[in-house]
Amino acid sequence: MIDQATIQRIFDAAEVAEVVGEFVTLKRRGVNLIGHCPFHNEKTPSFIVSPSKGIYKCFGCGKGGNSVNFIMDHEQLSYVEALKYLAKKYNIEVHEKEETPEMLEKRNERESMLIVSGYAQKYFTRILNEDNEGRSIGLSYLRQRGIREDLIKKFELGYCPDKRDAFTKSAQKQGYRMEYLEKTGLTIKREDWVRDRFAARVIFPIHNIAGRVIAFGGRILKDDKKAAKYLNSPESEIYHKSRVLYGMFQAKREITKHDRCFLVEGYTDVISFHQAGIENVVASSGTALTADQIRLIKRFTNNVTIIYDGDAAGIKASLRGIDLVLEEGLNVKVLLLPDGEDPDSFARSMSSTQLLEYIKQNETDFIKFKTKLLLNNTENDPVTRARVIGDIVRSIATIPEPIVRSVYIKECSGLLDVKEEVLYQEIRKIKQKHSEDVQMKQKREAQRAAQEPAPAISIPAQQIPCQEEEGSFMRLMLKFFNNVMTEEEINEHEVEQVRVRDYIISELEADSLKAFNPVYQRILDESVELSDDENFDCQKHFINHPDPDINQAATNLLAEKYVESARWRNSGSYVEDEEDILDYLVTKAIVEYKMARVKMMEKDIFDKMNKLNPKNDAEELNELLAQMMNLKKIETLLSKELGRRAIM
Ligand code: CTP
Ligand code: MN
Repeated sequence: MIDQATIQRIFDAAEVAEVVGEFVTLKRRGVNLIGHCPFHNEKTPSFIVSPSKGIYKCFGCGKGGNSVNFIMDHEQLSYVEALKYLAKKYNIEVHEKEETPEMLEKRNERESMLIVSGYAQKYFTRILNEDNEGRSIGLSYLRQRGIREDLIKKFELGYCPDKRDAFTKSAQKQGYRMEYLEKTGLTIKREDWVRDRFAARVIFPIHNIAGRVIAFGGRILKDDKKAAKYLNSPESEIYHKSRVLYGMFQAKREITKHDRCFLVEGYTDVISFHQAGIENVVASSGTALTADQIRLIKRFTNNVTIIYDGDAAGIKASLRGIDLVLEEGLNVKVLLLPDGEDPDSFARSMSSTQLLEYIKQNETDFIKFKTKLLLNNTENDPVTRARVIGDIVRSIATIPEPIVRSVYIKECSGLLDVKEEVLYQEIRKIKQKHSEDVQMKQKREAQRAAQEPAPAISIPAQQIPCQEEEGSFMRLMLKFFNNVMTEEEINEHEVEQVRVRDYIISELEADSLKAFNPVYQRILDESVELSDDENFDCQKHFINHPDPDINQAATNLLAEKYVESARWRNSGSYVEDEEDILDYLVTKAIVEYKMARVKMMEKDIFDKMNKLNPKNDAEELNELLAQMMNLKKIETLLSKELGRRAIM
């Protein structure tokens, strides 16, 4: 945990244009900077950085935020990791808050394991490149496999000497403790002996998303039938196999850029693809594919192409992979390589253009893939055939998008010679069963929730009423919080300055209006609380807010690209600065908001009146009518107020 003062210092130092500028080429455009969005592929730049507001915003894909958000998103780091990243960049010492002894111990333990793993990687790499044995055995093996120098470097490959405990000795000499050598699995220790786990193996370090080494895979070089070809680090506090994909650190940016992830089986497959210029590739090396691994991919793209060997094992693994990927709601394509090839050998046998072309020509959607398998093997066996149709239908049923579903149904019907209606019927049955299950689950959860305090509900933005109107005054409030919008005469000699914040807050309070958008209401509440502080910088405070809901809302409000240009048209020949006509703008925003709320109440009353019977409910009807009249009066007053301000 980092203390508040340090966080403030980091935010102050991390100038948004400078932070973003390290990754994106920015050109000046008026008061802003513009460039190509690093989060999606685009031909014309729509990625804007506003140094004055301290934000970036892409008008293509919608991503936006402050400097810390940018690093979180771009480097795929957590909030705290991103803060530390920036602290390092700006030489800010990070003071961490008090931790409980247990927390401290756990963190220290993880950190120590990461440090010793980092040391091991450097040691193995040094041996590979500088040591006699390393060069003559390890390096020459990699060269003979055709792995280029730049890839050896990029993947930080290494070699562990063919000695009992050369690595462990070296590490201990450097002061690394046996406890962590053991916990990372680098050293195997028994009562009467100690040895290096990876002795006499070429080393493939495994990185976490932030690029730190968390584990290793080691390939044997000798022809030893009894020893495993690959040996991997054991599961540990820093290495959870089922949640890690080999190559993700080196691939993540390219995956986002191409909006697709190639999934292969092994270390060498990943490296060979990189060597062929295809860098959006990861491997589930060392484990069968897991749901957690697919969720990891989902952070970067919704499109997966599984590329496995064409042998029986490859087919089986692909089938399993397809269902897992579909279940997680991603789109999946499959490419089986010719029998006897793996992605590694295949990629090395052709140029990168050829490889890409081959993938494009041969990757198929899962339905074709499954159907082809079925037709090849069991065309004449009705029982198996029915079972596999059922299997395909179940896969289709998991696809959330109805249009996509119907495309697959059509395709499946054609390929398998089954009527579309039959397939639809099957899918309806499956969905029916599924929704019953879901309802049961919801019912059970509701019962449980009734006994617990209600959790905060976040409503999707498009379902919140009056969003445009609320956005208008919220934007003005964030931008011109402390600005004076008008002066009010108190008496002959005295005038009082009215600030934007006082006006907005008092107008809302006067009518007991709470914003429909819960995030806006939190911003309002927090503003009231903090506005007494002379140094309170509203815009900066909410842009840099640690709560992602709040800083995203603030960014989106302030990044509003079209506000200024819309005003061009309205004001005719010249553009006034918003600051010069705040009185008009803020009043208009509030009046229009109130007007929208009044209209909602009117509709409410109208609906109620419609349900009543004029004969039996006369009294109630009169009451509602009176309310309606009242609202109409308010409406007129509001329009007048708006007109008055506009004229002034
Ligand atoms: N693997 C493993 N343990 C083994 C064998 C394989 O963890 N005993 C994992 C490795 O990550 C390996 C992947 O499964 O990269 C695929 O195995 P395989 O196809 O046998 O290896 P290749 O990657 O083709 O390696 P090489 O070309 O070096 O033989
Ligand atoms: Mn191979």
